[in-house]
Amino acid sequence: MSFRTQPLPPARLNRCQLFGPGSRVALFEKMAKSDADVINIDLEDSVAPDDKENARRQTIQAIGDVDWGDKTLSVRINGLDTPYWVRDVVDLMEQSSERLDQIMIPKAGNASDIYAVDAVVTAIEKAKGRTKKIAFEAIIESAAGICHVEEIAAASPRMAAISLGAADFAASMGMATTGIGGTQENYYMIREGQKYWPDPWHWAQAKIVAACRTHGVLPVDGPFGDFSDPEGYRAQALRSATLGMVGKWAIHPSQVALANEVFSPSDAAVTEAREILAAMEAAKASGAGATVYKGRLVDIASIKQAEVIVRQAELITGK
Ligand code: COA
Ligand code: MG
Repeated sequence: MSFRTQPLPPARLNRCQLFGPGSRVALFEKMAKSDADVINIDLEDSVAPDDKENARRQTIQAIGDVDWGDKTLSVRINGLDTPYWVRDVVDLMEQSSERLDQIMIPKAGNASDIYAVDAVVTAIEKAKGRTKKIAFEAIIESAAGICHVEEIAAASPRMAAISLGAADFAASMGMATTGIGGTQENYYMIREGQKYWPDPWHWAQAKIVAACRTHGVLPVDGPFGDFSDPEGYRAQALRSATLGMVGKWAIHPSQVALANEVFSPSDAAVTEAREILAAMEAAKASGAGATVYKGRLVDIASIKQAEVIVRQAELITGK
C-alpha cells in the first residue's frame, strides 16, 4: 500500500437504485415499498420540458409526505447545460424536508460541475440551518466525464457514488449502438469460426471503479434498458459485480430483485469469508503471514477481500 491509504466508501447498502419520473406521482408509494436500497426520483430526462416545474413541485412534496423507510433518497436534477438545474437545486434545498439524502448530478463532465452544485447546496444548507449534509452522486455519461472521472470522484467530500450512464455515454462517444447496456451485436471477435461477444462497457466501468476506489466513492452500474430481458440484466450485473461495482440501477420494478440477488453475497460466500478470516487469525497467532485454506493460498490480501464480503453481509443483516 502506498503511504496514502485507500479511503472506505460510505457504509451503506447500494445494491439497487430504483428510478421513477418525478412527474409520475402514482409511482412514489410503489417505489417506497420496493426492496431497492436507493430511490432516485428523476427530474431530468424522463420528464418532458413542459412538465419540469410540475415534477419538481411534486417531488419536493413527496420527499416529506411519503414514508421512504430506511432507503437512501436521491433526486436527479437536470444537467448543468440546461436552464432547469439551478431552480432544481435551490427549490430542493429550500423547500424539501430533511428526509432528502442525496442529489444526483447527471452528465458530470469535470470537477467544476460538482463544485458549482456544491457551492449552491452549501450556501443554502447554511442559510436554512439544514442539519443533514446532502450527499452527491454523479453520472458518467459523456466522453468528458470518463476522461475526468478521477477529478469528479475527488471533487467534493459530498461525493458518495458514481454511476455509468450507458445510453448518453454511447451517444457522446459516437458508439454505433442504440442499446442501453448489455452485449452489442456488432462487438464481437471470431476464433475458429465461432463468434464471441466481449463487453463494450468494460473499459468505462473499470475506469469508474478505479476512480471511485481511489477516493472512497461507491461505483455503480447504470441502467439496462430492455426490462423484458432479465437474463441480459443479470449477466450485465454479474460482470459489474466482478469488476468491483456495488450495485445497479433498476428502471422497472422487475429489475430490483435481480440487482439485490447479484449484489448480495451468497450465504456460502459469507461463510467462506468468515472461515478465511478465522484461518488468517490462526496463522497470525502462530506468526505466519500466509496459510492454506481449502487447498489454496490465503494471505493478508485475502483478509481484505473477505472483509469486504463480511461488511456487506453485516449491512444486509442490519437492515
Ligand atoms: N417504480 C415503481 N413501480 C413502477 C415503476 C417504477 N419505476 N414503473 C412501473 N411501476 C409499476 C406500475 O405502476 C405497475 O404497477 P401496478 O401493477 O400496481 O399497476 C407495475 O409496476 C408494472 O408496470 P408496467 O406496466 O410494466 O410499466 P409502465 O408501463 O407503467 O412503466 C416505464 C414502464 C419504463 C415507463 C416505467 O417503469 C418508468 O418510468 N421507469 C423509470 C424511467 C426513469 O426513471 N428513467 C430515468 C432513468 S434511466
Ligand atoms: Mg442520461
